[in-house]
Amino acid sequence: MKMLVTGGSRGIGANIVVDGAKRGHDIVFTYVSDENAARDVIRLIDDIQAEGTVDYLRLDVRDSTAVAEVVEQATDLLGGIEVLVNNAGITRDGPAIAMTDEDWRDVIDTNLSGTFYLCRAVLPQMIDAGFGRIVNVSSLGHVGSSGQANYSASKAGMNGLTRTLAKEYGRKGITVNAVVPGFFETDMTRESLPQELRDFWGNYCPMPEGRPGRLSELSALVEYLISPEAAFINGQTIHATGGLDWGP
Ligand code: NAI
Repeated sequence: MKMLVTGGSRGIGANIVVDGAKRGHDIVFTYVSDENAARDVIRLIDDIQAEGTVDYLRLDVRDSTAVAEVVEQATDLLGGIEVLVNNAGITRDGPAIAMTDEDWRDVIDTNLSGTFYLCRAVLPQMIDAGFGRIVNVSSLGHVGSSGQANYSASKAGMNGLTRTLAKEYGRKGITVNAVVPGFFETDMTRESLPQELRDFWGNYCPMPEGRPGRLSELSALVEYLISPEAAFINGQTIHATGGLDWGP
């Protein structure tokens, strides 16, 4: 399939790109600032001689004009976009009463508005083609999460957007679903997940030794959602959380 993946230079996004290329998909992914990391992903894909082709483009998803331009470029590179994975996301944690306008806006603009801009830019060609798959990477934060008013609101918003787009465009052959990762070891969680939350996960996640998720488990879920077998799965919010579906 021809895929556009946002935030593909590291973490969950990079793994979706690498595993997708291994499975033979042609992919354009975006990075926002670290071009070296984007090159590393390409190198890795070259090393493993993945079947699919992979390119990257720079994109700040907060900029709707840039989103439209990058979607056009990716469309040219791929010869059309069949799959969009909205993975780009950030956290700016803190108690709600101390949260700055900037921290509120940055998170909403990146996680929620960015996802909307990408969907809006890609949907017309999917409608014309009579086929499309959109997967939004949400978060367990959507159930409410202390210290994450901005993040939680953005991810709950993503889920509402997912269900709405599924209803608006399902008849056009397009499915829109959200995946909800629990705790996965990435730069984001290494940089910002407090030890008490790691402990909480280890104590309560009903997996052997309260283990975190494996990135391959998430990319496999994305692969399923874009497969022909998942054509009847639409507007869903699917948890890959090991069974821990609530937060402190
Ligand atoms: P990460 O920090 O390693 O990756 C985030 C990606 O988003 C990076 O590639 C970054 O460049 C990109 N990005 C950030 N701001 C951007 C912007 N303005 N424009 C374009 N790209 C931008 O984090 P991770 O863990 O890989 O997270 C990926 C997604 O998964 C995020 O949406 C996150 O909220 C979600 N998630 C992650 C969980 C985890 O346990 N790691 C748990 C729940 C959700």
